[in-house]
Amino acid sequence: MQVDKILIIDLGGTRNAEIARELRRYLVYSEVHPHDITAAELAEIKDIRGVIINSGPNREVDGVLIEPSPAVMALNVPFLHTGYDGHPNLPVDAKERTKLLHEFIFDTCKATPNWTIDNFLEWKKAEIKEEVGDKKVLLALSGGVDSTVLAALLGQAIGDQLTMIHVNTGLMRKNESEQIRDVFGTKFPGQLIYVDASERFLKKLEGVAEPEAKRKIIGNEFIYVFEEESGRLKDIEFLAQGTIYPDIIESGTKTTKMIKSHHNVGALPEEMQFNLIEPLKTLFKDEVRSCGHALGVPPDLINRQPFPGPGLAVRCIGAITRDRLEAVRESDAILREEFARAGLSNKVWQYFTVVPDVRSTGMRNKERSYEWPCIIRAVNSIDAMTASVEPLSYELLARLTERITSEVEGINRVLYDVTPKPPGTIEWE
Ligand code: XMP
Repeated sequence: MQVDKILIIDLGGTRNAEIARELRRYLVYSEVHPHDITAAELAEIKDIRGVIINSGPNREVDGVLIEPSPAVMALNVPFLHTGYDGHPNLPVDAKERTKLLHEFIFDTCKATPNWTIDNFLEWKKAEIKEEVGDKKVLLALSGGVDSTVLAALLGQAIGDQLTMIHVNTGLMRKNESEQIRDVFGTKFPGQLIYVDASERFLKKLEGVAEPEAKRKIIGNEFIYVFEEESGRLKDIEFLAQGTIYPDIIESGTKTTKMIKSHHNVGALPEEMQFNLIEPLKTLFKDEVRSCGHALGVPPDLINRQPFPGPGLAVRCIGAITRDRLEAVRESDAILREEFARAGLSNKVWQYFTVVPDVRSTGMRNKERSYEWPCIIRAVNSIDAMTASVEPLSYELLARLTERITSEVEGINRVLYDVTPKPPGTIEWE
């Protein structure tokens, strides 16, 4: 399938991804590549219709001004130079910028606007089928948006050649693992191996209070479980990963500093002997969600808020106990229910409850109680690097307090965390 492409060559520009997104909005597919992309790498990219060389303040690397590789300059397509160093700048005014980009991609490059989600899916399915042939593919299905959409795409491309492993760590939200088992075990193509490893994770975490130690145990245990399960499988040649474009961009390119390191449960050791396939790696998050809708994935799986790899463990502060973990899970479920009722589910970026390992005196059934507080957190953010607090109505807070204190065992107080990031972080651990 032909998908016309405009390449953006990163010459230290600051807005590479934004330009790519803008071109995709005009239905012309665009990818960002480093300035030193090789001839062999370029040869892999079909149907290049034009190149935008985007330079900027990060053009100097180790005291030297970087230049586009000779392979880029040898491409026999139209070029547009943008940036801050005496090439024309992209106009700040949106109308003017649109006009300039439109003229370049449509009049000069004669690109066909054929970048749609349906075309992308057809293109990727064909590519996956060709690459995989009759071999088998393995996927760690965490239940996050990216791995879920990837599972649906692979299932439709290669059917039973796909094996998914879902590890229930015991640290998932209420009914989350069960829903994954239901959807991918019965309604979608591919074979699901559902591993209930909750006992194992909780045993390993017993008595461990230090946040980084908890994260490490969870990450390692996940790898052990995954290795054990995948070791039983025969003839797996490919490992699929739900890497998406921001993962690549945020991990830092040659001209950008690393913004954040990704510490995902589900990150597998490099020495695992598989060939990697990452069909979503050029998509932005909203595009991944659109793919999910087009593939028929249930909307509540696609519209999930961000969820940390270590799961509820980082919200059950200190050493995890089963009863306190249950209090986190149940209060989180009530919070989600009430947000849905108040029409806030898709409006607030991330919201959850935290139960710390402290107790206070209260009253229950006219008797003294000595129980935990439950902390509500609800924040808005674009990139999780900073976050502001959602101003929840007092009415909603009162209702949450009433429900959580009466329905969740072990909770006698509810608090609202009004700390932005910084100085707080979004999670408590
Ligand atoms: P913090 O707490 O650092 O969180 O402000 C920023 C965002 O990242 C999520 N988060 C994680 N995501 N693995 C992940 O995949 C992790 O270990 C992890 N820790 C935090 C957090 O939920 C928030 O959206």
